[in-house]
Amino acid sequence: MGDPLKTKTTLADCGNALLTWVDERLPVVKFWHDHAAKYYAPKNFNFFYFFGSLALLVLINQLVTGIFLAMAYKPDAELAFDSVEMIMRDVHWGWLLRYLHSTGASAFFIVIYLHMFRALLYGSYKQPRELIWLFGMVIFLLLMAEAFMGYLLPWGQMSYWGAQVIISLFGAIPVIGEDLALWIRGDYVVADATLNRFFALHVVAIPILLLLLVVLHLSALHTVGSNNPDGIDIKKNKGWDGVPLDGIPFHPYYTVKDLFGAGVFLLLFAFVVFYLPEMGGLFLEPPNFEPADPLKTPEHIAPVWYFTPFYSILRAVPSKFGGVIAMGASIVVLFLLPWLDRCRVRSIRYRSPVYAVILGLFVLSFIGLGILGTKPVSPVNTILVRIFSVLYFGFFLLMPWYSAKEKTQPEPDRLTPGSIPLAARQGKHWDLIRSLLHKVLDPVAAGTLKVEAKVEAELGRLLGKDKS
Ligand code: HEM
Repeated sequence: MGDPLKTKTTLADCGNALLTWVDERLPVVKFWHDHAAKYYAPKNFNFFYFFGSLALLVLINQLVTGIFLAMAYKPDAELAFDSVEMIMRDVHWGWLLRYLHSTGASAFFIVIYLHMFRALLYGSYKQPRELIWLFGMVIFLLLMAEAFMGYLLPWGQMSYWGAQVIISLFGAIPVIGEDLALWIRGDYVVADATLNRFFALHVVAIPILLLLLVVLHLSALHTVGSNNPDGIDIKKNKGWDGVPLDGIPFHPYYTVKDLFGAGVFLLLFAFVVFYLPEMGGLFLEPPNFEPADPLKTPEHIAPVWYFTPFYSILRAVPSKFGGVIAMGASIVVLFLLPWLDRCRVRSIRYRSPVYAVILGLFVLSFIGLGILGTKPVSPVNTILVRIFSVLYFGFFLLMPWYSAKEKTQPEPDRLTPGSIPLAARQGKHWDLIRSLLHKVLDPVAAGTLKVEAKVEAELGRLLGKDKS
């Protein structure tokens, strides 16, 4: 009902009327409330919680720049390399689109590795968040497939030979291997048919699956709620209004915080795009500036940096089939994490210091494998790769044993304060707020004013008289 004294219809009235009209047909307002304005997230999110929203940002960057690149790219073995050169030299802003996309691919893996590492720190994969983790792992697999197929498209030397090596690995599978490799390539060697199918999968099929899985990932997250650096359940402590006492609405608190994170990330990202797009051969490898030549094998074939930890595990085993199995196992074992970890508490903050050491060794082994995967094989490197591989698998396979035995510390009931509590804030504004609160709470304490017990508890908490 409009205001009867109002004569003019403003733009805001039109907006509201339109929103009501839509909302009666599709509950957009309810969606916004459920997932942002009234979605209560733990108040102590830290640095590691930026990477989920950053993964979304990078995904959008890849989709948008990818669409524009596809407008000028030619998925044909005769034309692909030249079309990428044309994008770099002749298409308006083509160089920027390509560098945003190629840097975006590496940024995606940096962001995702940190996002996954956060789960190891705070036990985010543990009950009841197993499905979030499993959907995440399927996303990770799809992301690897997406990056691998995208890398063939520029049809440079490394694109060609990298694909040749990786696809031939399937040939090591007994009985069906050779046929499977032939089926994937669509030819006896990597050829035009391979390029065409990889283009279709890279541009259409995998992005659709990725988007679907991100929706499932976030739906599962919003069903059980976010974990946090303390690893404790904020739903156990609710206020009189049913809102978790340690929860804050996602919007505006985390939308603004995530925007800040996105700003810092974009500054770093822009620096790489404009000043270091090849990252010294790590993001765009030098042999890929030469067109693919099926008759000339490059001296040293290595995948892009984000695959090298797994590539090292492949090379750690002398037999080709054994290597393929080890590499597959190094990814499969990640899926099992929620069931391998039997520790009573989630967060590293309350786990035994032994876990911190074990996790540190795991990180060391992952980085070590990554670095060694970019280097040519040598006797010393092989020994190091084997040591790191044992550490990598040891982290997971011994987990049921060491995690069950861990001496944990008691978890607090409430989150450790991320910011300064009201009672400890300084300055005349805070003095004024405190004195106003005292004006209510002191008569309550003296028994001259009656308020609901829950309100009293809340006021006490604000003034630092909270017993919890
Ligand atoms: C396109 C890729 C991905 C996107 C866009 C994405 C997005 C998000 C977002 C927005 C959140 C909530 C904010 C946050 O907790 O940081 C989240 C949480 C989470 N994600 Fe992902 N994610 C992706 C991939 C992955 C992968 C590969 C894994 C692990 C295998 C994973 C595991 C998790 C877990 C366990 C949580 C819950 C964390 C917690 O509550 O502490 N995600 N994700």
